[in-house]
Amino acid sequence: MPRDYVEDELSRHSVFKSEQFLSADYVPETLPHREPELRTLAQAFKTLITSPGHTSQKFIIEGPVGSGKTAVAKRFSEQMVQAASRRGIRLHKLHINCRVNKSTYLVYLRILREFNSGFPRRGHSPEEILQMVLEVIDSQDRYLMLILDELDYFIKQRGAEILYDLTRLIDDRLNAPQRISIIGVGRDIALDESSFDRSILSTLQRNILRFDKYDSEALCDILKDRVVLAFQPNVVMDETLQVISDIASERGDARYAIELLWRAGKQADRDESKVVVPDYARQAKADTHPELRKEVFTALPVQSKLLLLAASRSLKEIRSAYATIGEVEEMYRTVCEEYGVEPRAHTQVWEWVQDLNAHGLIDTRRSGAGQRGQTTLVGLSDVPADMLERFLLDLLQSTQGS
Ligand SMILES: Nc1ncnc2c1ncn2[C@@H]1O[C@H](COP(=O)(O)OP(=O)(O)OP(=O)(O)O)[C@@H](O)[C@H]1O
Ligand SMILES: [Mg+2]
Repeated sequence: MPRDYVEDELSRHSVFKSEQFLSADYVPETLPHREPELRTLAQAFKTLITSPGHTSQKFIIEGPVGSGKTAVAKRFSEQMVQAASRRGIRLHKLHINCRVNKSTYLVYLRILREFNSGFPRRGHSPEEILQMVLEVIDSQDRYLMLILDELDYFIKQRGAEILYDLTRLIDDRLNAPQRISIIGVGRDIALDESSFDRSILSTLQRNILRFDKYDSEALCDILKDRVVLAFQPNVVMDETLQVISDIASERGDARYAIELLWRAGKQADRDESKVVVPDYARQAKADTHPELRKEVFTALPVQSKLLLLAASRSLKEIRSAYATIGEVEEMYRTVCEEYGVEPRAHTQVWEWVQDLNAHGLIDTRRSGAGQRGQTTLVGLSDVPADMLERFLLDLLQSTQGS
């Protein structure tokens, strides 16, 4: 009998029941260790439901990587929408990733498209678009809960005007119903005193919710819930969860913890082991780095990925913490050739370098005078160069042709 590889694969034993519960964008029903934060939000926002149109809310959620900010904002807004709909209130939620929608124009357009999907792209100023947003939600008698996620990155690039403009717009509508509430989300949102009106600043400052990083026990509780959803019964050892929680507690990063769990499971499958032993978690740690977040890298334009690949190769080659921008550009031209892409000029490359820096993916600084001449030095944030290289090669391969 010829070998049937499909049947082989289908009959192969797996420790997983449903891997999708370990994916980065899955938001579980319950979020252990974030109950107090969810309650605070509910207390602040309940007036949107008890007296719709009379008040709006502005809140900021701040906290370190993987501390559950996005998950809480999404779960909370979903519960708000459900509660509103049970009471006949047309509350709508919209989650906008400001790393992807990189300008106020694109953010406002994204909002407008939510209500008017056929809206043409060109020919309007951001202010006009925002005005149209107000008109359309007025005419449809809706309320909007806007989640501006990854706002710290946006503010670094564009300043905090977006918060200012939206807040002013909401507050200035004295006699009209209040229809838009905002939750801004980010690691560390710089509210620059000079660009804000005092009253807006003080409202925002009163409404900041800070998330602490998770400790090892919290991470373990989060993982236990996922194990039940994603794995076959009794395949993941408690010790494995302990090892993962301890590793991830250094940063308090739940995303990293979940990724280690997933990778440990994958390793068990590769070894055809029926049990996920602690050693698989330790191996997983060696294979990945918490800063290698797929969502962030996938959102980058191909050229920026190539430039990053060039940076990681230069750094690997010279075995130093920093490479000069000249060295990186030279490598970049080689990489472009390899991928059959036309290399771009210095000014453009320079812009990408700034952008990657704002994303926190590389680290730039000026070289000391006399050292290697005055130039810009490029380093990687925290990820080992060869690990970044492998990660990018995989990513470029999986997106090629798409
Ligand atoms: N309390 C929790 N219970 C269950 N899962 C959680 C909890 N907190 C975070 N997670 C999960 O961990 C992962 C990372 O969480 P999340 O995306 O909310 O982090 P974040 O604070 O937004 O991080 P970043 O600053 O990098 O955007 C997600 O898959 C999320 O579902
Ligand atoms: Mg997030």
